[in-house]
Amino acid sequence: MAVQLQRSYAAVACLLLYYLSSGLSIPDPRQREALIQLELSMQTGGQMVLNDAEKQLDAHLFKMKQEEIMRADFPPAMHFFKARHLIRTSPIFSLLQKMPKGGALHIHDFAMIDVEWLVKNVTYRPHCYICFTDNQSIRFIFSSRSPKPIPHCSAWTLLENLRAKTVNTTDLDHSIMGNLTLFTDKDPETVYPSQDVVWSRFEQAFYALWGLVTYAPVFRDYYYQGLTEFYRDNIMYLELRALLPEIYELDGSTHNKAWALKTYQEITRQFTADHPDFFGARIIFTVHRGVNATVMTGVVEEAMTLQRDFPDIMAGFDLVGREDSGRPLWYFRDALSLPVERGVTLPFFFHAGETDLEGTEVDQNLLDALLLNTSRIGHGFALLRHPVARDLSRKRGVAVEVCPISNQVLKLVNDMRNHPAAALMSENHPVVISSDDPAMFGASGLSYDFYEAFVGFGGIRSNIGSLKELAMNSIRYSSLNPKQQEKALALWQRRWDKFVSENAF
Ligand SMILES: *[C@@H]1O[C@H](CO)[C@@H](O)[C@H](O)[C@H]1NC(C)=O
Ligand SMILES: *[C@@H]1O[C@H](CO)[C@@H](O)[C@H](O)[C@H]1NC(C)=O
Ligand SMILES: *[C@@H]1O[C@H](CO)[C@@H](O)[C@H](O)[C@H]1NC(C)=O
Ligand SMILES: *[C@@H]1O[C@H](CO)[C@@H](O)[C@H](O)[C@H]1NC(C)=O
Ligand SMILES: *[C@@H]1O[C@H](CO)[C@@H](O)[C@H](O)[C@H]1NC(C)=O
Ligand SMILES: *[C@@H]1O[C@H](CO)[C@@H](O)[C@H](O)[C@H]1NC(C)=O
Ligand SMILES: [Zn+2]
Repeated sequence: MAVQLQRSYAAVACLLLYYLSSGLSIPDPRQREALIQLELSMQTGGQMVLNDAEKQLDAHLFKMKQEEIMRADFPPAMHFFKARHLIRTSPIFSLLQKMPKGGALHIHDFAMIDVEWLVKNVTYRPHCYICFTDNQSIRFIFSSRSPKPIPHCSAWTLLENLRAKTVNTTDLDHSIMGNLTLFTDKDPETVYPSQDVVWSRFEQAFYALWGLVTYAPVFRDYYYQGLTEFYRDNIMYLELRALLPEIYELDGSTHNKAWALKTYQEITRQFTADHPDFFGARIIFTVHRGVNATVMTGVVEEAMTLQRDFPDIMAGFDLVGREDSGRPLWYFRDALSLPVERGVTLPFFFHAGETDLEGTEVDQNLLDALLLNTSRIGHGFALLRHPVARDLSRKRGVAVEVCPISNQVLKLVNDMRNHPAAALMSENHPVVISSDDPAMFGASGLSYDFYEAFVGFGGIRSNIGSLKELAMNSIRYSSLNPKQQEKALALWQRRWDKFVSENAF
């Protein structure tokens, strides 16, 4: 249907160009206007029919955007770390915060919430030990006894004792916080001169917070707190990519993957009961792409079992970690074909094309993800360079999860106006906006990423219709079944109408 629409656009354009070139030496302004309108109608939201209140809000938005684009320090042209305080004062940003954005479909388990909470709340709990690694990072563990030392790390120190000995704990807390996020007040280009450096710090940050978030009581609170932060940003649904790691208790005993998944389910239920206008959450089980084929086979088997045992909460399966240094999907083809061979359902939500290594084996992930029947594409940053993948993604309605700030911080793009998703949005390719690891980037929820998408690569032309379509896409392309989608859309529509009526003037 989308493809047919594209063809008919092309036909209209040809016809217009034919008239345009027949005789007159100066192009006819009416035909010019018709071509402009034609392009506008092709963009994300270009076919959206707007009611009067929406049109009013759109006119207001248009004015705000024109003012924003005139700014000398235009935030989307800058690194997010430098732009954040400017974005916070933007009236468009405040509006986007209030806007019901639907679902967040690409978020990772341990980068959901502001790291300040980890420092101020979690590291102040009793029995929290810290050690300092050889290369200036830190590790944590909660334990009722003195924990066993680990390689390349100092002796464990009880944080409570360390703080008691420290004259001013502000600096200590600040340095802990610095280890748990990539965000910095220093010049980001100097701190992170290359993709290798930024990815290495990214991985170190995960190791640093690991011992905090895999402690059972914190694991529960972290997820509840994460849902709270997304809910406050007016997000009603979440699909969380989760490693389901071994979770430990104070006495050192541990829980398995099924326990972690069940815990996610229980807390989602509790949160939804506490917040009836929150729709819910589902989990995409993930494994690091650094594992070998043997390990992957075992993990896929586990994934099939979990999918069978927890069909409500579990959405499917994905691979995480840096694509450039991990193994490509093709390497895992046998393991990833197991579900279809056994006639078992295990939907895939592959990260693919989060790279600028054109033409390499890694760059092939996009086509391989589609060959393996992925339900969505995580990032798809390289999609424009793969016309076949792009066409298949459009034809099959395999949405691209665009995470602008993540792409910028991890050094795939500098100026958001040059983000490849600009082209995807100009032709209403199926896309959703997400934030990947907001806590790592000093962001939160989805509003900052919506800002970059709407003001940065959306340009002056993206409008209230684009925002509406992006929000609706997040439900339409979610893993919810058609009946649930209908219910979620109705809930979203009520909140949307309220938002429009409160802000149109
Ligand atoms: C830490 O978070 C938990 C759960 O969210 C909350 O119950 C508790 O009061 C918080 N403690 C502090 C010191 O903020
Ligand atoms: C720091 O040390 C850890 C543990 O030995 C190691 O895994 C990691 O690669 C090191 N990171 C850097 C940036 O040297
Ligand atoms: C602790 O140090 C910070 C700066 O590092 C300073 O702003 C703060 O006032 C100090 N607090 C106390 C209680 O001295
Ligand atoms: C991480 O913590 C160590 C030890 O406190 C500190 O030396 C280092 O500067 C911190 N790193 C960052 C990036 O804040
Ligand atoms: C795969 O990785 C596992 C765990 O690291 C290791 O035990 C196993 O020997 C590896 N298998 C092969 C074939 O390399
Ligand atoms: C993908 O779907 C096609 C068509 O339904 C099917 O023939 C193929 O076996 C599937 N492959 C995988 C790996 O799921
Ligand atoms: Zn991701």
